[in-house]
Amino acid sequence: MQDNKDIKGRLIVFEGLDGAGKSTQNFLLKRFLESQKIKVFLSEWNSSPMVKSATRRGKKKRLLTPTTFSLVHSADFTTRYVREIYPLLQAGFVVICDRYAYTAFARDVVRGCDREWVRNLYSFAIKPHISFYCRVPLETAVRRILSGRAKLKYFEAGMDMGLSDDIEESFGLFQERVFQEYERIAGENDFEIIDASLPINEQQEMARKIVKEKIDLPSFHQRSKR
Ligand SMILES: Nc1ncnc2c1ncn2[C@@H]1O[C@H](COP(=O)(O)OP(=O)(O)OP(=O)(O)O)[C@@H](O)[C@H]1O
Ligand SMILES: [Mg+2]
Repeated sequence: MQDNKDIKGRLIVFEGLDGAGKSTQNFLLKRFLESQKIKVFLSEWNSSPMVKSATRRGKKKRLLTPTTFSLVHSADFTTRYVREIYPLLQAGFVVICDRYAYTAFARDVVRGCDREWVRNLYSFAIKPHISFYCRVPLETAVRRILSGRAKLKYFEAGMDMGLSDDIEESFGLFQERVFQEYERIAGENDFEIIDASLPINEQQEMARKIVKEKIDLPSFHQRSKR
């Protein structure tokens, strides 16, 4: 990944297992920053309208091999990076990403893609100023997903990997592997680890404290000229 020193804005990313509580936390952080009159933008994984319809078709027909799945996600990311993330960082925004390249580093490698190959797909992206890793025991994450979701989806549960015919069991086995890969990535990068089994407000307090320590927030005030 690219050095982030010369960029005007600040990049904060949230990583962690499905159900760890990333979206809950980054939504609250965004609201907090907005309340401080900070220029802030939130970008979510797999949300580019350009790539969405192709992904939907591929998923529906279960056509995605690990390589095409990986390429689809990198196309989504690249589109958002070029159109939103990078220009807004250059314009001095605080950009929050709900999942970043590390998600691909974890999931795609578990699906069998080569570690270096996946890292190369994202080599143009800047290193975040803060990477929050919402670390939660596997069982907690799985319970949160299963309680909030009517039905697991095929790829989300890693059914393409043939780990089990039972979708819930497959999900657990897949997530276990993703967890191991995240732990490895966390060891290689300076992640800010958030204990995601704590109550929502306690985690949010920790996240805000770290943001205030690492980012000079007043200089990102909407009216300030930098
Ligand atoms: N600290 C917490 N304690 C208990 N429940 C929580 C906590 N944080 C989030 N939840 C609940 O767990 C579920 C998953 O949370 P959330 O959607 O924020 O996770 P996520 O990491 O964004 O998941 P995904 O990767 O699937 O998008 C939601 O129902 C949310 O309300
Ligand atoms: Mg989410």
